[in-house]
Amino acid sequence: MKIPFVDLHAQYLTIKQEIDNAIVQVIAESAYIRGPHVDAFEEAWARTLGVKRCVSCANGTDAIYIALRGLGLRPGDEVITSAHSWISTSETIAQAGGRVVFCDTDEETFTIDPADIKRKITPATVGIIAVHLYGQPADIGAIMAIARKHNLWLIEDCAQAHFAKYNGQVVGTFGNVATFSFYPGKNLGAYGDAGCLVTNDDQLADWMATFARHGGKGDHVMEGINSRMDGLQAAILNAKLPHLPAWTRARRHVAACYDKLLEDVGDVITPKVGTGRDHVYHLYVIRTENRDSLRKHLTDAGIATVLNYPKALPFYPAYAHLGHGPEDFPAAYANQSRILSLPIYPEIRREAIEEVATQIKNAFKLTPGRSTNHEVAEPVLMLNMAR
Ligand SMILES: Cc1ncc(COP(=O)(O)O)c(C=O)c1O
Repeated sequence: MKIPFVDLHAQYLTIKQEIDNAIVQVIAESAYIRGPHVDAFEEAWARTLGVKRCVSCANGTDAIYIALRGLGLRPGDEVITSAHSWISTSETIAQAGGRVVFCDTDEETFTIDPADIKRKITPATVGIIAVHLYGQPADIGAIMAIARKHNLWLIEDCAQAHFAKYNGQVVGTFGNVATFSFYPGKNLGAYGDAGCLVTNDDQLADWMATFARHGGKGDHVMEGINSRMDGLQAAILNAKLPHLPAWTRARRHVAACYDKLLEDVGDVITPKVGTGRDHVYHLYVIRTENRDSLRKHLTDAGIATVLNYPKALPFYPAYAHLGHGPEDFPAAYANQSRILSLPIYPEIRREAIEEVATQIKNAFKLTPGRSTNHEVAEPVLMLNMAR
């Protein structure tokens, strides 16, 4: 059975008429750049999250850059962020003139480790970017306490965490500003690039909206950038937004099925969820010391998997100049060779989930004639790796 990592077309087919109507309407109105669909989405997203303002932009990376500029980052300012994320979180800090200070992650949840944040604070630190990675909120209570104590601002990178909650409160509503990506594969995805910022700070929202639109239309009160959500993407997001609660429930259900089916299989560790955190499973990431051989087995069986991400950020060539070694980020370093993302999307069928689990079990099948006791038997994968 061929099982894709995500199947965006399957989702399109479930809401085809709504999407087709939305696209036809934008074309009929020639409402391509900004316009009524964009305004409607900004209002709907802010209302849904319970925040005062939503400022749309071209993608989730721009959103972080705009937030950093809006918060007044100055050359030499240090911003603390996670060693385990997509590079948008860190590249934007340098692009906005700041200095990236990487922090290790909690080994179990993959989110930024508050204890390491405390260790990384210097007189030059101005803020923290916390990432709600894979759909799991970071330990936002502890992070907020640190930010308040040291007078730091907080940006929440919610690119992977639409509707995730911490102690019952939706992510994106804790920090000074939060950023979202609506990249097609995200839990709420457009049919191209799109992103936004949300905040309760009117002054900050006004500044960011002006900056993202060439520093003001007609008056150019500053030099800005061109980062706009287009009308087609907004209309598609408006059509998809009412379905997001059901899609989120479906993702949680898929995760619960995997959790159960993968209990006690080889050395597989299924995702651990921190106390008070509601995970929305943008990604379902297992850990195993046999990652590469398991991945090969699944690929051979027609099952697509992804490494999110092949390396922790400090170990990419882009950050070689910082001179970090594994001992600086022991958890992120250890996890980079263990993590494996399994197929997950709301429309995935039960048989596909079972097939993924069966193939993982097959990969760890006990060798004939050996003990059936999981504690002592050596999985096939171990033997493969030793060769
Ligand atoms: C954690 C994280 N931050 C930021 C982004 C950037 O979003 P975009 O691709 O819309 O620029 C992504 C997208 O992959 C992401 O996963």
